Amino acid sequence: MTRAKGAGSGGILASLPRAKVPVKDGMSQSKFIRETWGMQGIVQNPNDVYYTPDEVALHNKEDDSWTILNGRIYDITEYAKVHPGGRKIFLGKGKDCTELYNKYHPWVNGAALIGRYQVGVLKR
Ligand code: HEM
Repeated sequence: MTRAKGAGSGGILASLPRAKVPVKDGMSQSKFIRETWGMQGIVQNPNDVYYTPDEVALHNKEDDSWTILNGRIYDITEYAKVHPGGRKIFLGKGKDCTELYNKYHPWVNGAALIGRYQVGVLKR
């Protein structure tokens, strides 16, 4: 088991397991980034589309998986296939993953990585 880069000898990150998981043949996060970089978002103007937590909860399957991150809602079905933390991302399926996300990798720029998969924002 390896430790977080820069976790040093103390702090909360030092206690978390940091194992990269293999992805399916032909898949990689960098390929995902290359392929989605020039892509249009799967939804136009997702910041104008509102969903309640109950509506997000309907997308709680591995082949239809939405999550809430910092008030924005993303379809993570495709990204999950290349997520460096593997299936753990599904702990956030159908719900708000912000807390888990910040626990494991507060430095990751989720909006940049999966912005094209934003489907809406949370209706409060
Ligand atoms: C929703 C969007 C998410 C995105 C865009 C995302 C993205 C990423 C990225 C880029 C890494 C690599 C970090 C690095 O190398 O420094 C990573 C690793 C990881 N993620 Fe996520 N993640 C998401 C959600 C989650 C959730 C909900 C969990 C739940 C526990 C999780 C658990 C992990 C774990 C355990 C790793 C560790 C792999 C390693 O050792 O680096 N992630 N994730």
